[in-house]
Amino acid sequence: MRRLQSRSKSLYLLMIVVAVVYMLYVTYVNFIHDPQAAEFLSHKTGLKRPVVLPIWLNVMYVHIVFACVAMIAGAINFSTKILSKHRRLHRVNGYLYLLSVAVVVLTSGYMAPYSTGGKINSIAFNVMNLIFMGLTVAAIVQIKRKQVDSHRKWMVRSYAFCFTNLFIHMFTFVFHNGFGVEYALSYTLGVYGALVLNFALAELVIRCIYTRPAAIVPPGNKKDKAIA
Ligand code: HEM
Repeated sequence: MRRLQSRSKSLYLLMIVVAVVYMLYVTYVNFIHDPQAAEFLSHKTGLKRPVVLPIWLNVMYVHIVFACVAMIAGAINFSTKILSKHRRLHRVNGYLYLLSVAVVVLTSGYMAPYSTGGKINSIAFNVMNLIFMGLTVAAIVQIKRKQVDSHRKWMVRSYAFCFTNLFIHMFTFVFHNGFGVEYALSYTLGVYGALVLNFALAELVIRCIYTRPAAIVPPGNKKDKAIA
């Protein structure tokens, strides 16, 4: 039991460190180092519709800001301390997460037809949009039905999608820089690889960390508090 708790704490800490470092990196690259996204756009070839730069850029900025808000809000809500001591904060923050996911998905929907690598990635991004929103709504529906365990599991599956961009770049880097695969193909492998890794990591966390039922009184009960 103790080992499980300490494993869960270490994993939570690791997740926070990765999320914070990645958010700082994304903010630096996209708002300071290359605000016109010249490097990223240079890989787009053979697009059916040309990118309307001012609109695409602003949509991307909104996408990044809300993606970071989703990452922060989600990370905060996995804290058992916050859940047990500040139930209202967890609830408000949960709706902020839902809103942020909706904005990430909408902005992604705008950018998807212009995806690097073409139609094969546009389709993947649109499928991801449906999955990301679906998983998040499923988590909210579960807690509305007072199914705490199920809510927690669907939120893990949803939150894994916040790491999509990180995984895409990780795979692209390994294939392109490591194995010399052409950039567009590396990016495609990155998009599909991220989709698989999101699911795999979420299931791993659910199976290794959330092995016991949540010791939490469902919302709406008189003692609306965590009991462990
Ligand atoms: C929540 C964490 C996320 C962050 C921090 C993030 C960040 C970014 C950034 C910085 C870009 C600009 C290009 C690049 O450097 O990759 C981008 C593009 C994009 N993102 Fe996200 N994103 C996130 C999640 C998602 C999710 C979950 C989806 C889909 C469901 C998505 C769909 C897209 C699409 C379609 C593009 C344009 C890709 C292209 O033009 O090839 N993003 N994102």
